[in-house]
Amino acid sequence: MRAAAFSDLIGPDGVEIIEQDDPEPGAGEAVVDVRACSINRHDLWILQNDSAMVSEGATPFVSGLDVAGVVSETGDGAGVSEGDRVLLCPNQTCGTCEYCREGPENLCQSFMLFHGGLAEQAAVDAHRLIPLPDEVGFAEAAALPTSYLTAFHMLRKAEAGAGDLLFVPGAAGGVGVALVQLTDVMGARTIGTSTSAEKLSRLESLGCDHTVQSADVDEIESAVWEIGQVDATLNHLAGEYTKLGLKVLKRGGKQVICGRTAGPKCEFDAAPFFLGHNEVIGSTMGTQPELATLVDLVADGGFEPVVSRTYSLEETGRAFADMEDREAFGKLVVEP
Ligand SMILES: NC(=O)c1ccc[n+]([C@@H]2O[C@H](COP(=O)([O-])OP(=O)(O)OC[C@H]3O[C@@H](n4cnc5c(N)ncnc54)[C@H](OP(=O)(O)O)[C@@H]3O)[C@@H](O)[C@H]2O)c1
Ligand SMILES: [Zn+2]
Repeated sequence: MRAAAFSDLIGPDGVEIIEQDDPEPGAGEAVVDVRACSINRHDLWILQNDSAMVSEGATPFVSGLDVAGVVSETGDGAGVSEGDRVLLCPNQTCGTCEYCREGPENLCQSFMLFHGGLAEQAAVDAHRLIPLPDEVGFAEAAALPTSYLTAFHMLRKAEAGAGDLLFVPGAAGGVGVALVQLTDVMGARTIGTSTSAEKLSRLESLGCDHTVQSADVDEIESAVWEIGQVDATLNHLAGEYTKLGLKVLKRGGKQVICGRTAGPKCEFDAAPFFLGHNEVIGSTMGTQPELATLVDLVADGGFEPVVSRTYSLEETGRAFADMEDREAFGKLVVEP
């Protein structure tokens, strides 16, 4: 079978199509014919040699977390059948640590993610497969696991509810668009930012109530103050946006952080933070039952995951270049 492997961790030019042996399912595993695999900033960090999870010695490396497809072979005790349409929950947990026992599972002390979806086939833990109803297409399904699941879990940690005002800096990517759509579904209001006027008008059509075209934190801060104080900031950028995200919170408001696209570090003033009773909360992925809920929501017409472009396996490098160049809106999906 063919796979789009990271042969050199030098960015999008390091992607190469390689031939690999067809995978065989072990006990409890299934082989899935990959119909769609979305890409994430997480894969791009690996490809840019900026990830603690994968080092240069691990090349050629087949990344790709978000797999939707059809079961083609099963191992003993897999509990799924050939021909089943499925979506993989990429969570990998030990199942035995105190966090796994008490939940939620994404707290597992050995928490890891599946990699290997950017290929024609993938051998996966069959217990991580969620049945995919016919109403949900493969590309739409593949958009869900990393971006929408993370967004959903962040909103729950923020205790966001109907009528709240939520601030999403960088609202036009995978996690950003997911936050805007899920916020709209729950009846809350969003303020979203992007540097692109075109992306902002697409966000408005998805239910984003207020848009700010800027990447400048001072400019954004003034614009947000004019709209109102926010109940929660949902932040996948970090860096200088962390301080901004705190400054615009109302008293008791929360900032949930899941990423570091704008840098891992930030200084902020402790006094207004504690006097305002604010909270900063870290969040990573979500749980398999939450992902199943999202699949049900899509099947019931609650929202349509935004896939702005699909690519063949040979075009995988192009997909990463589009993400790197900030050409993407919502999700980019490879269809092997
Ligand atoms: N912890 C977790 O479980 C988890 C899960 C998913 C993602 N993440 C993290 O969340 C982040 C977003 O991931 P994603 O896949 O949604 O990425 P993405 O699709 O590439 O996000 C694109 C968005 O980020 C903005 N952006 C890109 N570079 C920027 C920069 N240097 N400064 C400010 N804004 C910038 C873009 O702005 P424009 O619209 O102006 O182009 C766009 O709105 C990443 O850090 C990722 O690692 C974490
Ligand atoms: Zn565990």
